[in-house]
Amino acid sequence: MREIKRGFHISFEGIDGSGKTTLSTNLYLRFKEKGYPCFYTVEPTFMRVGSLIRIHASRIKNVPQYYMALLFAADRVEHYERVIKKKLEKGYHVISDRYVHSSIAYQGGLLNDIEWVRRINNKVPLPDLAIYLDISPDKALNRKKKISGPFDNIVLLNKIRETYLSLVNMKELVMVDAEKPLEVVLEDVVEIIKNRLNIDL
Ligand code: TYD
Repeated sequence: MREIKRGFHISFEGIDGSGKTTLSTNLYLRFKEKGYPCFYTVEPTFMRVGSLIRIHASRIKNVPQYYMALLFAADRVEHYERVIKKKLEKGYHVISDRYVHSSIAYQGGLLNDIEWVRRINNKVPLPDLAIYLDISPDKALNRKKKISGPFDNIVLLNKIRETYLSLVNMKELVMVDAEKPLEVVLEDVVEIIKNRLNIDL
């Protein structure tokens, strides 16, 4: 039997309103159009712990971030073991709308405890490529005007952005300027992936 080549795992990161979801779904469509097996997925998930997180995030204010960090990590283990790993093994490229670096930037940044957040997430592998969509919190909040979430606060978003930028400095994330128009951002992302995977996209 011919061995299947493992897929490539790409994650999208950024503060709320950075355009992650639009970008990652468009990229997914691009992969499909070109005939590559591809799978799009999102965290928090809609599985058991993910659903619990969604209830907390939308209804309860002031939930301790240590508690949230543990829930996100548990959701991620289930997500990786039951979904992501299996898809990669079957040769699908997996596009994650948020993954480990969301926990590092949000919970790690807000708690000033990045090392602990890394540790509780060390049961899942890092993605092959993590793309960070950079935007100022001002612009991001404007984009999201009608939607309010637990992190719709300029001070918190600045702190989270700062943590993302420190990960860019450490070369863990590849940064893309997300203040440009969507079509331009998409082409920038496609260029990065083409070079990394050596494929036509
Ligand atoms: P998401 O549904 O991606 O919101 P959006 O599409 O608006 O970016 O994520 C929900 C919230 O959960 C978002 O505010 C970021 C937060 N989050 C964390 O704080 N830590 C994590 O590990 C993850 C995956 C998400």
